[in-house]
Amino acid sequence: MVGGEKRFHLLPLEQLSLSPEARVLDLCCGGGQATKYLIESFSDVTGLDASPISLKRASKLVPSAHYVEALAENMPFNDSSFDLVHSSVALHEMNTVQLEQIFQQVYRVLAPGGFFVFLDLHSPTNPLVWPGLSLFMSLFETETAWQLLDTDLRKLLELQGFTEIKQKLYAGGALQVIQCQK
Ligand SMILES: C[S@@+](CC[C@H](N)C(=O)[O-])C[C@H]1O[C@@H](n2cnc3c(N)ncnc32)[C@H](O)[C@@H]1O
Repeated sequence: MVGGEKRFHLLPLEQLSLSPEARVLDLCCGGGQATKYLIESFSDVTGLDASPISLKRASKLVPSAHYVEALAENMPFNDSSFDLVHSSVALHEMNTVQLEQIFQQVYRVLAPGGFFVFLDLHSPTNPLVWPGLSLFMSLFETETAWQLLDTDLRKLLELQGFTEIKQKLYAGGALQVIQCQK
């Protein structure tokens, strides 16, 4: 609905200007679905995920990235380790307490001026999109995905200190991209 898989995973980077040397974290990288596109633009990409099986898949798909098995709520990185933290369709798996912890950690591991960008579900603005999204979520997602639709992400990000928060909607409003800065 947004013009293909590559565009989907790269939507969070639109209109950002970052050097190819930027240190990039693909947060909750799964099997590397977005990592494989990030590595085309950045030489230093780290994928973090809690699932060793997913990380094994990711390291096969994108061997040139680094991988870390950890919880996003408790990242084993020094402060200011990254210039960009990117996350693709993962935050709907977190409850509000986890989201607060993750945003706090993302803020900590970002260098001053660094960007946090992510793509995830959103309440559709086009009512015609609701039946399809509801069916998808009922079949494949858990309670946290429904919770995300009612979560004020801007407020949670502001609480951690993020600024320049911009939200863009796609696919009849069913997808949101948020970009913000430390
Ligand atoms: C739906 S997948 C998204 C994968 C990938 N980013 C993509 O674009 O398809 C969500 C990923 O989040 C990971 N995950 C869920 N909770 C996590 C947590 N608390 N810390 C780290 N990873 C987590 C899961 O293991 C899974 O790989």
